[in-house]
Amino acid sequence: MEIRSAAVIGAGVMGSGIAAHIANAGIPVFLLDIVPQDVKDGRGNDRSVVARTAIEKMLKTDPAPFMHKRNARLVTPGNIDDDLEKLASVDWIVEAVVENPAVKSDLYARLDTVRKPGSIVSSNTSTIPLKNLIEGQSDRFAEDFLITHFFNPPRYMRLLEVVSGPATRPEAVTSLSTFADKRLGKGVVQCKDRPGFIANRIGTYWIQAAINEAMDLGLTVEEADAVVGRPMGIPKTGVFGLVDLVGLDLMPYVSRSLLKTLPPGDPYRDIYREPELFTRMIAEGYTGRKGKGGFYRMNKSGGARVKEAVDLQTGQYRPAGKPSLDSVADAKGGLRKLVEHPDRGGTYARRVLVGLLSYAAGLVPEIADDITGVDQAMRLGYNWKFGPFELIDQLGADWLADALKAEGKPVPALLEKASGRTFYRTENGKLQFLTTEGNYADLVRPEGVLLLSDIKRAGKPIARNASASLWDIGDGVACLEFTGKMNALDSDVMALIQKATGMIGDGKGDWKALVVHNEGENFSVGVNLGLALFAVNIALWPQVEQTVQEGQETYKALKYAPFPVVAAPSGMALGGGCEILLHCAAVQAHAETYMGLVEVGVGVIPGWGGCKEMLTRATLNKRRPGGPMPPIAQTFETISLAKVAKSADEARDLMFLRPTDGITMNRDRLLADAKAKALVLAADYKPPEPVKLRLPGPTARAALDLAVEGFHLQGKATPHDVTVSSALAGVLSGGDTDITVELDEDELLELERTAFMKLVRNRNTVARIEHMLTTGKPLRN
Ligand code: NAI
Repeated sequence: MEIRSAAVIGAGVMGSGIAAHIANAGIPVFLLDIVPQDVKDGRGNDRSVVARTAIEKMLKTDPAPFMHKRNARLVTPGNIDDDLEKLASVDWIVEAVVENPAVKSDLYARLDTVRKPGSIVSSNTSTIPLKNLIEGQSDRFAEDFLITHFFNPPRYMRLLEVVSGPATRPEAVTSLSTFADKRLGKGVVQCKDRPGFIANRIGTYWIQAAINEAMDLGLTVEEADAVVGRPMGIPKTGVFGLVDLVGLDLMPYVSRSLLKTLPPGDPYRDIYREPELFTRMIAEGYTGRKGKGGFYRMNKSGGARVKEAVDLQTGQYRPAGKPSLDSVADAKGGLRKLVEHPDRGGTYARRVLVGLLSYAAGLVPEIADDITGVDQAMRLGYNWKFGPFELIDQLGADWLADALKAEGKPVPALLEKASGRTFYRTENGKLQFLTTEGNYADLVRPEGVLLLSDIKRAGKPIARNASASLWDIGDGVACLEFTGKMNALDSDVMALIQKATGMIGDGKGDWKALVVHNEGENFSVGVNLGLALFAVNIALWPQVEQTVQEGQETYKALKYAPFPVVAAPSGMALGGGCEILLHCAAVQAHAETYMGLVEVGVGVIPGWGGCKEMLTRATLNKRRPGGPMPPIAQTFETISLAKVAKSADEARDLMFLRPTDGITMNRDRLLADAKAKALVLAADYKPPEPVKLRLPGPTARAALDLAVEGFHLQGKATPHDVTVSSALAGVLSGGDTDITVELDEDELLELERTAFMKLVRNRNTVARIEHMLTTGKPLRN
């Protein structure tokens, strides 16, 4: 069954976020909550006020639950007293009401009387076993029921844990899992009906172990986070920062509910503690970021904002320090270096990891059929770079077993099976994992999933240099990958693009198309600013100009290549990283792509054809009002305000993406979708016709300058904003031209280049670049 309509019951934190994300998939969804008692008592007449307010609140939430504000219209608010019958039409009902078995059970019985046969009902419960949830419900209900455990916030967290019971229809599991994968973009992990499923079972143990050991070893919270964060491939919030984020008050609640259901003898029972300090903090409202502060807080002191941290021994706040542990510095040499380091950080890392990893190894197959689901759940649900079994491989299965034996602790059976081996290995270019029987099996990707990392594992690149690689992704399609630090763009990237276009030639030989893609957190945040600053500081003007020209020529060559170039971005695509997308024949963007021409933030304008491409798009847009000024004004606004689209859908509004460009919800499916698009285009590909523009020249520039001057007078534009905007206005109005003259692309590129070179010599621009490099934020000078 295909899911075409849905309903979410419970419009709290999770329910409203889930409803928004179902709407992001283009699916209409009812959002129902209770009729509040005061409305029932006659105070107020909006019986659906809870759901309605939740939707309104989400439109103001940042980061936004909706990928586009218009998606809110797909969510229909309602209440369970008046609107339950409406659920007769929907294919999937998600229950996300309070974590109370009696409330849920009551609701299920009511749902069962109205829902249509074969519709799926799922619970978002985080702690109640499925077998308890279906107790007393009809057989029909049990067949259609499963648990879909989303993580908060539902739009952004990629993990979806799915739990089915012995009675659940396999088709219900498949329909729901396929929908969640393809339409909601989730990494679906099938879990067993065990307490805390996978991610929270292991995550809760990890948090407790990391807190206990930090307190026992006398580490500061900053030190603890510096060790259990980045060096282990865990977000830099580490453990105390994470607890601040989720809320201190939630921890005892999660722990206690786990303790109620965990099997006797579960190792978590041995390490469970509720430190007196934490109880006091919660009681006094220090519940983390949502409260008065947590283990960290920002405090005002003498007018300045100071970051403070709690002293774990005294419970008092003190200024936060930058920890300097040799072990953390040495961890660059690998995880073994960290855990074997003699300092406190090394001891801490060893104790936490030995506990965590042996716990995880002892849980398979109890919580999952094999190790791959466990690793995936921790990567997607806790944003870890490596799952527990990948971490064991970094330390060595025997190292871990020896460490356990030395402490007189039992070695989990699965760990013993891995002795002398690794949990993952590459065999004939294929990734394999160790099964619970102790054999290796291929890790089979679902149909429609193509990962560059798998291709990289299987062979060598066709070509590579310091900042980019070129891979053969099959069927005559090559893939260009940025590989520099933060995927920054430089001359090496341009050189490899040139090489790729040369290799593919006319697209009629062995090679048919090029895809531009990488698996970094961000597609590219643009030019290598460090290099740029270096060149600017020593006044290497000819080199700077050459870099600009080289980028312009390379991107133009991509645009007019005789074969299709399809870009497949995810994450941020800013500055030069956005400009390359503007030049591709097509873009297949991950839904979470954030595009923007943000050059003005560092005091310049887009110089690699970004102004030209955006102006051309706006001019050719048939829906725009007539006359030459509207497209210029629109492009001017987008670039001068450094607008960044907060989703691929929003990028369409800003014309960074065209209506013909595609959007893929699941990141793992992005490369395959882009490759398919490239092959379709390659069938009878013709490069675009060159465009010439008629621009009004100085009169248009004067109008834009006047507008900027107005902003300046209102205090909305800084003096250097005025300078940069004026240079941009000069380019977009066509320079010294008039409406009777046709300007070709090279003339527009020359305008970009000239304006860029003038700005880059301005000391206020240099100050902006320096500031961006040191703080990561734009300078408002
Ligand atoms: P919440 O307290 O924010 O929202 C619960 C909502 O349910 C409230 O709006 C309440 O008015 C409504 N409600 C209560 N009884 C109802 C009924 N009979 N019919 C309709 N609505 C009713 O709770 P939250 O955090 O959204 O949790 C919901 C579910 O999701 C729980 O089962 C929880 O365990 C689970 N969960 C929560 C996560 C989180 O991070 N908060 C993460 C994953 C799962």
